[in-house]
Amino acid sequence: MKFATKQIHAGQHPEETTGAVITPIFQTSTYSNDKLGETKGFDYGRTINPTRSALENNLAALENGKYGFCFSSGMAAVQSVITLFSPGDHVICTNNVYGGTYRLFEQIISNYGLEFTYVDTSDINQTKKALKDNTRFIYVETPTNPMLNITDLKALSEFAKSKNILTCTDNTFMSPYFQNPLDLGIDIVLHSTTKYINGHSDVIGGCLVTSDDKIAEKLKFIQNSAGAVPSPFDCWLVMRSTKTLAQRMKAHNENALAICSSIEGNKKVKKIYYPGVSSHPQYELSKKQMRGSGGIISLELGSYDNAVIFCNSLEIFQIAESLGGVESLVCHPVSMTHGSVPKELRDKFGLTDGLVRLSVGIEDTDDLTDDVGKALSML
Ligand SMILES: Cc1ncc(COP(=O)(O)O)c(C=O)c1O
Repeated sequence: MKFATKQIHAGQHPEETTGAVITPIFQTSTYSNDKLGETKGFDYGRTINPTRSALENNLAALENGKYGFCFSSGMAAVQSVITLFSPGDHVICTNNVYGGTYRLFEQIISNYGLEFTYVDTSDINQTKKALKDNTRFIYVETPTNPMLNITDLKALSEFAKSKNILTCTDNTFMSPYFQNPLDLGIDIVLHSTTKYINGHSDVIGGCLVTSDDKIAEKLKFIQNSAGAVPSPFDCWLVMRSTKTLAQRMKAHNENALAICSSIEGNKKVKKIYYPGVSSHPQYELSKKQMRGSGGIISLELGSYDNAVIFCNSLEIFQIAESLGGVESLVCHPVSMTHGSVPKELRDKFGLTDGLVRLSVGIEDTDDLTDDVGKALSML
């Protein structure tokens, strides 16, 4: 089955008692036993829920994986994957990772004896140099939030496999429509389903997908034991959304490309960060491992003041955290999403006070290019 068919059908079938085409919201915390000890395979809502299972199977299929696990947020998925490891283990992580992931690793998980090294994983040599005897895990985000750096997932997974190290990719920015890390040898894929997968800015959620039986068993154990599971209603909303993922991603991508070409050569923009423009340092790699470039563009506007004027001048783009919804948003990462990343680290990867991040929605293309053009003319 091709993607656009899988997104609608995988994991779902007409409901048995009524034939309802759409998987119902099984809003229950528990299930009745036929006789003591005889269940229909469902015992308790944290452990298993049919609406959640349908979404988990759907997302696993979209990532070309065997097992999916859904969580109450993207961060709950990150927290769950990192608890596969133990005190004394060393983790290599992309330096320009989502600010909340950095905060979780540095301010919470490192208190439990795990050690983290942050490197530019877009340079495989930096990843190799960071290797220690106790390195057990490499966690990469590609493209990164908000600099859109790209890690060569095939090269990374080959290196990690040769050293017996597990790998996880945060695939939130591309969604399974544009990139499938498992196909490139990565062990676990992570999404904040809050973003493109749900795409309507009305749910917080996360997921993990793997094809490895042993990892899946451990993740199932963690999901059930730690209990950060999403509600049946949220699962249902996300499943409603995956049915249009391909169509939405194409529209995000087209609009982002149109905005990039409309501002090319505009002197007010010091730098465009977008994998779909040939000036992107990993443009060739992006063509190889991704099937599109997504809807996130970061712009360097030269100063904090310019960033403020630009954000305040936009009319269709709303100033808000988050990304990946049908509506266009703008954010100033230093004061919003990445405030918890120390300035020294931000400076290292170019996250300046003048950087703004656009999450390009699926509104009319001309309206969006006009909005950006007008806001730039105010600088
Ligand atoms: C790339 C990426 N990963 C993970 C997360 C965390 O997801 P959530 O906000 O759903 O917890 C975010 C949130 O912005 C993100 O952008």
